[in-house]
Amino acid sequence: MILITGGCGYIGSHVNKQLNLAGWDTLVLDNLSTGHEDVARWGHFVPVDLCDAEEVLAVFEKWPIEAVIHFAAFSQVGESVRDPQKYYRNNIGGSLNLACAMQASGVKKIVFSSSGAVYGMPLESPIPETHPTKPINPYGYTKLFFEHLLASYHAAYGMDYIALRYFNAAGADADGELGEWHDPETHLIPRLLMSARMDQAVHIYGDAHRTPDGTCVRDYIHVDDLAYAHVLALERVLNSSCATVYNLSTGLGHSVRDVIKEVEEATQRQLSLVYSERRPGDPPVLVGDSAKARKELGWRTRYVLRDMIDTAWRVINM
Ligand code: UFG
Repeated sequence: MILITGGCGYIGSHVNKQLNLAGWDTLVLDNLSTGHEDVARWGHFVPVDLCDAEEVLAVFEKWPIEAVIHFAAFSQVGESVRDPQKYYRNNIGGSLNLACAMQASGVKKIVFSSSGAVYGMPLESPIPETHPTKPINPYGYTKLFFEHLLASYHAAYGMDYIALRYFNAAGADADGELGEWHDPETHLIPRLLMSARMDQAVHIYGDAHRTPDGTCVRDYIHVDDLAYAHVLALERVLNSSCATVYNLSTGLGHSVRDVIKEVEEATQRQLSLVYSERRPGDPPVLVGDSAKARKELGWRTRYVLRDMIDTAWRVINM
């Protein structure tokens, strides 16, 4: 059985579905603080908070867990700057309880949901995994902390791990059964789509960045492509001794203006835009080099930006 922490969230729910379709037995653990119970339609579900160390240990005592995929975390960069304690307590405290319960019960295989936010301000583009890790916000620090914890656990206790550093996850399940339901929604593509649907203005955070059209460039990656990488990473971690990190990205950068143009074409609606101040902590360009995941995991992406917009738009309108 595979334990998926945060399996009621955006990326976790897509991974849970794909694993079940691939024949795996899963146990979703989620405290439902930001997740939605109705997406735990595949596998089993336990409403547990990782910050409750005793309950976490009890899960490992009750269920025959062979490996963990760890998503459960708060994930808003801006919020982490305003309220770092919330992030350190939950993302570090909860993850530490998970690691202790794994160690106590002899579970030595984990795939960790990390982030391109561990790099901080990029010194080169696309960013390879060997790039220095210098987060510029508490969210990125919490992800980097757990990567370091895993490296120490591997060296000391033989715990095998793969940390997956995502770039900008977007899109929705191609069957339309799952989507991105954040509250509040802060991500660009769902905000543009919501604006298109409700005919509301959307704020563009700066048009004088050092990029070709002045707006920030990001590497958007379809959530089902991300989910597929987890299936491959799980197989690898279960079948070998490994301690490694992979970028999950397309290597293609799209500016905010590029995304707006695609959204207008896909929805056949004209967006009303308000240009406002830069958002603190936004690097102008974040594009990842995923050659390592392609080579070592045999990972391939299937979707392009337009597919991310189309699949998300379909789910929003269901
Ligand atoms: N943006 C706007 N208006 C909006 C929302 C976003 O102009 O209403 C801009 C942002 O300033 C940024 C770009 O659109 O330039 C993308 O912003 P998102 O909020 O969609 O995503 P981020 O790049 O800020 O962050 C995402 C994840 C993080 C992860 C990071 C690393 O949310 O968890 O990518 O790649 F760390």
